[in-house]
Amino acid sequence: MLLSLRQIQQIAAAVAQLDVLAGFAEVARLRGYVCPEVRDEGMLQIDEGRHPVLEQALISKPFVPNDTQLESVAQQIAVITGPNMAGKSTYIRQAALLALLAHTGSFVPAKHARVDLVDRIFTRIGASDDLSRGQSTFMVEMTETANILNNATDRSLVVLDEVGRGTSTFDGLSLAWSIVEHLHNQVGAKTFFATHYHELTELAGRLPRLRNFNVAVREWNEQIVFLHKIVEGGADKSYGIHVARLAGVPKSVIERAKAILRNLEETELSPDGEARYVSRQSVEREKLRQIEPTPQLDLFAGQ
Ligand SMILES: Nc1ncnc2c1ncn2[C@@H]1O[C@H](COP(=O)(O)OP(=O)(O)OP(=O)(O)O)[C@@H](O)[C@H]1O
Ligand SMILES: [Mg+2]
Repeated sequence: MLLSLRQIQQIAAAVAQLDVLAGFAEVARLRGYVCPEVRDEGMLQIDEGRHPVLEQALISKPFVPNDTQLESVAQQIAVITGPNMAGKSTYIRQAALLALLAHTGSFVPAKHARVDLVDRIFTRIGASDDLSRGQSTFMVEMTETANILNNATDRSLVVLDEVGRGTSTFDGLSLAWSIVEHLHNQVGAKTFFATHYHELTELAGRLPRLRNFNVAVREWNEQIVFLHKIVEGGADKSYGIHVARLAGVPKSVIERAKAILRNLEETELSPDGEARYVSRQSVEREKLRQIEPTPQLDLFAGQ
């Protein structure tokens, strides 16, 4: 039988489709995936979701499943704080991956999943630069963020990992703060925002559809144990020095860093003649609380 070029292309396309579907079926069966419920009501609800790649890669310890819930009416933005190495990036990438898998027609690694249709999934993850094209690390970060803010809609899913970290602390915090406000008041996209700017947790008191989450850790004998479990509420410690020690940074550097941190965290104030110490963080927070609300209209209020 002689086949025309067109027929060969059609057969190849059909075999490719079958290959993808057989791949989905095999993975779903072998790894305990579930069929996601898909509607068009703006919900993203995942019970006991797992990261599809990491759960296979972890050998010495089990993957800790986590729940996810976002929708546009009451819980649109999740700000995720928590120590280095706790699992923030894993958690937000997992949400994006599961949404993508569901949109391709695959089952997803979870106990139950409701993944309503989104128009696009936007991500801003990781630090990279493009020196040959004249773009610094921070320029790349802001270009990608600008693209998201200019193009996302209330039907999009947005995943932002530590946006703002590529510049000075105050510039970064101010940008992160106003980016979250814009996503809440103007864009309305379902958003995951992982950050070490613990000050951002203050936004929960101002933006009605924003919720704080953190990744649980236990302190034990001067050690920290990462539980990798997402819980409600904000975190206020990063344990960065602890992680630097785990990574093998010389002891003298660690001790010096601890001393500097103690110095930075405490500001001496003597309002009534008595010397007292106030944490620098609480002074900053107080200033942030005084910031006027954004003059822009909240387009989504009262929906
Ligand atoms: N749910 C989980 N179950 C088991 N291990 C996990 C889980 N989440 C993360 N981990 C482990 O923790 C490591 C660090 O996770 P991740 O990079 O997500 O942390 P992070 O909070 O983003 O840290 P950083 O603030 O330094 O970016 C992962 O490489 C993985 O080994
Ligand atoms: Mg991270």
